[in-house]
Amino acid sequence: MLENINYRGDYFQITLSVPAISQEVQQGQFAHLLLPDTEGILLRRPFSIYDADADKGTISIIYKRVGKGTDLLAEQVPGREIDVLGPLGTGFPAPKPGQKVLIVAGGYGCAATYLIAKRFDNDGVCMIGGRSAGDVLLDDRFAATGQDVQISTDDGSAGHQGLVTELLTAELDKLGDNDDAVVYSCGPNPMLKAVSNICVPRGVETYVSLDEHMCCGVGACFTCVVKIKADNDDGWEFIRSCKDGPVFDATTVVWD
Ligand SMILES: Cc1cc2nc3c(=O)[nH]c(=O)nc-3n(C[C@H](O)[C@H](O)[C@H](O)COP(=O)(O)OP(=O)(O)OC[C@H]3O[C@@H](n4cnc5c(N)ncnc54)[C@H](O)[C@@H]3O)c2cc1C
Ligand code: FES
Repeated sequence: MLENINYRGDYFQITLSVPAISQEVQQGQFAHLLLPDTEGILLRRPFSIYDADADKGTISIIYKRVGKGTDLLAEQVPGREIDVLGPLGTGFPAPKPGQKVLIVAGGYGCAATYLIAKRFDNDGVCMIGGRSAGDVLLDDRFAATGQDVQISTDDGSAGHQGLVTELLTAELDKLGDNDDAVVYSCGPNPMLKAVSNICVPRGVETYVSLDEHMCCGVGACFTCVVKIKADNDDGWEFIRSCKDGPVFDATTVVWD
């Protein structure tokens, strides 16, 4: 570990020296972290790879303290060895030439989608939602990539008061008949369901990164299964989010 700093409130940014991962990572993939020699924390914890610098051989993660594992992570100091598996999962596909990129993110979803904005030239829009201003992450860094950043908060403490999906609907309404757009979204599953319900009926290409609890992270334990449409009697099947996702084409997801 090279750095572990407080980003804002309960959010921290950790930077790790992992040259192979930094060169391979695709936008939307995750790393599975394990603190060696820590009693009581037996399982790895998954975190989206927020940023990567192949020249320096580093990746960065933005994480929120929510429990035992992330509390312990926040206490670690540079120099600490961390066991990192990655890059794991299937990330977001690159936009096609000429496609307008629309990012819809909430919470750590900002970290999961940042590499899209950083890597692909676009005049896209990044819509970030949160309960209040303190939950809006990385707006300045998205803006530095050239994206038009729009914010919504439930309490109106920053940006539009309301849901981030209201911003999305307004952006989609602006598209002309010949405009081609692609929506990338990561955040709480109810937000992703709402994004899908808006985009899929309009025929807008949409990818969602699902938030499922994980154990092994490599497809062996089936803890992380999600329902995906299938050509069978039930019309759906369970798919492993860690291996076949966490990013899925929104038209394939069965929302409960
Ligand atoms: C693919 C993927 C990418 C992720 N990327 C990030 C990221 O970039 N930044 C970040 O802060 N978090 C991310 N998470 C969530 C993160 O893995 C969990 O917050 C973390 O494992 C919690 O560990 P803990 O030991 O601190 O909490 P625990 O003690 O295990 O749990 C504490 C609380 O957090 C809840 N929790 C645990 N896992 C999740 C989860 N997956 N989603 C929602 N709530 C959860 C539990 O239900 C419980 O209420 C990601 C999860 C997945 C599946
Ligand atoms: S977490 Fe084990 S199969 Fe996905």
